[in-house]
Amino acid sequence: MLIRLEHIEKTYGTPDRPVPVLHDVNFTMEEGAYCAIMGPSGSGKSTLMNLLGYLDTPTAGTYYFEDVDNSRASDAEMAKIRNEKIGFVFQSFHLLPQRKAWENVALPLLYGNVPKKERRARAEQALCEVGLEDRMDFFPTQLSGGQCQRVAIARAICMRPKLLLADEPTGALDSKSGQQIMDIFDKLHARGMSIIMITHELAVAERASRMLHIYDGCLSGGDAQ
Ligand SMILES: Nc1ncnc2c1ncn2[C@@H]1O[C@H](COP(=O)(O)OP(=O)(O)OP(=O)(O)O)[C@@H](O)[C@H]1O
Ligand SMILES: [Mg+2]
Repeated sequence: MLIRLEHIEKTYGTPDRPVPVLHDVNFTMEEGAYCAIMGPSGSGKSTLMNLLGYLDTPTAGTYYFEDVDNSRASDAEMAKIRNEKIGFVFQSFHLLPQRKAWENVALPLLYGNVPKKERRARAEQALCEVGLEDRMDFFPTQLSGGQCQRVAIARAICMRPKLLLADEPTGALDSKSGQQIMDIFDKLHARGMSIIMITHELAVAERASRMLHIYDGCLSGGDAQ
């Protein structure tokens, strides 16, 4: 199993003013699965995504990744897992404006001390996979929203992660650009990439092989079929 969450709770706030967000979340996901998570605003989708991506730790419960319990990992251990195993795509792209497309893509390789020539070659390969090999030296301001998101996807996959996490990847895009992003996800899934995607749109969620729902911090459909 790639992912197993058992009885996960997440509470923000302070002990005297707790803000409980996730309640007894149980979720299993096999390697190569493509899951969509839907739910209203404020239901805890991004909170769950942050836990899955080791950007935050649960208040209670256990998180197994590749059958290893990392739920109490240190910040440094979590950073290592994030860099090596997980790619992120966000609604608002999160590209560095002063860096060219290929430099944005190669950023995770920079942290991994890969030499420049190899960084550029691997960035080119990742940009090729999203159909942007002719935009290597463009800055984000010279790209459309859909193209920026494709650069962000190239950045997310250039370390060849086990898991791709996407938090409303089409939320800021027109429908045609959104469609292109979904086509790329389909292609990555067909090649064996494990994907978890948050979306508000049913038509987007229906592209996944599994659909889960979250209401008021309670997840349904969490058991692998
Ligand atoms: N750092 C925080 N401190 C306190 N409360 C928080 C924090 N982050 C999120 N929350 C609360 O947790 C709840 C869930 O937030 P979350 O961002 O996970 O929702 P969401 O489902 O992603 O919503 P949206 O669809 O609007 O993105 C909200 O009520 C929010 O106010
Ligand atoms: Mg959110």
